[in-house]
Amino acid sequence: MLTQALLVDDSRSVLNFLKRHIEAEGLVEATTFLDPVEALVCAQERVFDLVLVDYEMPHMDGISFIRTFRRLPGCTDIPIAMITSRQTDDAKMAALQAGATDFLPKQPQSLEMTVRLRNLIQLGAAVRKLNDRAAHLASEVAAATQKLGEREEEIILRLALAVEYRDNDTGEHTLRVARYSRIIAEQLGLPARLCRDIYLAAPLHDVGKVAIPDNILLKPGRLTDEEMAVIRTHATIGERILADSSCELIRLGAQIAAGHHERWDGAGYPNGLEADEIPVAARVVAVADVFDALTTRRPYKEPMPLEAARSYLAENAGRQFDPACVEAFLSRWDEVVEIAAGQRASPFQRTEAPLAPVVEDTAESRPVEDHSAKAVPAA
Ligand SMILES: [Fe+2]
Repeated sequence: MLTQALLVDDSRSVLNFLKRHIEAEGLVEATTFLDPVEALVCAQERVFDLVLVDYEMPHMDGISFIRTFRRLPGCTDIPIAMITSRQTDDAKMAALQAGATDFLPKQPQSLEMTVRLRNLIQLGAAVRKLNDRAAHLASEVAAATQKLGEREEEIILRLALAVEYRDNDTGEHTLRVARYSRIIAEQLGLPARLCRDIYLAAPLHDVGKVAIPDNILLKPGRLTDEEMAVIRTHATIGERILADSSCELIRLGAQIAAGHHERWDGAGYPNGLEADEIPVAARVVAVADVFDALTTRRPYKEPMPLEAARSYLAENAGRQFDPACVEAFLSRWDEVVEIAAGQRASPFQRTEAPLAPVVEDTAESRPVEDHSAKAVPAA
């Protein structure tokens, strides 16, 4: 590819001479402008590798031109030579301070001009190569980073699925809880990145169930107090599994696992945290998790009608749940109904968001509801 040179001079004869001279060896293609303002407009639309600009021009002098050119995107490293017959130190200093790389004498066919011009052409070509290389590397890094993020999301999802399949066979609870959680997070006005992360990490809320023995987790009848205590360890175990990760998303999962059975009034577990002591992600998932547990058919119960579950959330706002989370959830009721109606999605199908979580049935909902024969999940 030919080196692209931008030539700016108010003298047509000088421009013609420079163009001939710079294109003589067939390595450069020059674009000429009599008007520096028009040259700047062109420089915003095209990439040049080298600029030669006159010192004295009407409307805009070479110093102002260089200063403006340097501020254009991607133009900080491009070699600029000022062509002038005025070789005073003041002129040179002003040009250097504006961002000039070199000066060329206005002496046609001088040896000095030929040599320095050749050097500038080589410099321009080298800068172009470096910039192209940097752009290529940046795109490679971006692609690799995106791939890593996708792997991270997929691993989280598959981990959540593995847990879910222990006591469920349908696999949509996780997906719905993730979607409900995102609605709440968005409506709370949380930063977009956090909304996304809550959506992605919500599936990990019950990961601690992997450590609950089958004879308790899958027990069909009412749980004893001792068995219930074992079930409740899933929150702490989940936190231990996920804590201290170098992955921000997994650390958020740890917060959710640890806090999704805490209650706004402090009567939850495992730590009896209350109100703002409970991480916001856990408060969000608590509402989503319970709502899905209530409205889902289980082997031991029929699904609660959506309106009844809505009333349950409203009645327990400020007691079991963060009232702001409940308000956020109910304010987007139409979307909630749509999700609850169940558009089945493949666990790894990409939908609106980068990740599509999965599974069905709630956390604790099952054991607690199940075994205590209550219609309401969570402790
Ligand atoms: Fe749970």
